[in-house]
Formats: sequence, C-alpha cells, structure tokens
Amino acid sequence: MKELKSHLFVCTNSPQVEGRCGHKNAEALRRELKEKCKNAPWGQDIRINSSGCLGHCERGIAAVMYPEAQWFFDLTDKDGEKLYEAVSSSMNSSTNS
Ligand code: FES
Repeated sequence: MKELKSHLFVCTNSPQVEGRCGHKNAEALRRELKEKCKNAPWGQDIRINSSGCLGHCERGIAAVMYPEAQWFFDLTDKDGEKLYEAVSSSMNSSTNS
C-alpha cells in the first residue's frame, strides 16, 4: 500500500443536532470531495475521512488537513469544488517541493 502524504478530516458530527456540522449536511460535502479527489493525479496520496467534533462548531462545517494543519471553516454542502481547489493547491505544492 502506498504511503499517504495527507489526511483530510471533515467534521460530520451530530447530524441530529442543530448547529453541528453533521446537521449542515457535512457528509454530502465529504462524499463529494472524496469523489473529486479520487480522479486527481495525487488522489492516492490523500485520504478523506469524516471526524467527530473538531472543536469549532460555530464555524462549521469545519475540516482540517494534516500534516499541513490547514483548517477550513464556514463550509457549506455546496463547497465541494471550493474545498477541492484548496486541497488540490496544497497537494500540488507538496508534490512539487
Ligand atoms: S460539530 Fe463540527 S466542529 Fe463541532
């Protein structure tokens, strides 16, 4: 198995609780991002996972990418392309360095 370069966690916590990322349809965002990343040249270098609360509920949907420690806040379930572009930029710069 190829070693991963990055790991992105999308908070999908508590879909039944208003105000939590899961309630804002975070799972749909995670799924869309995962599909987009699969077809990228670096798609095998990153894993897209759901996570529990990342401690920033008021700025959710929240996500974080490691080892870059790059945070994403105030995402919505319509931000798949925007998040993909940010991840792509980060992956391309880590591949080129
Ligand atoms: S529920 Fe997503 S950061 Fe807390």
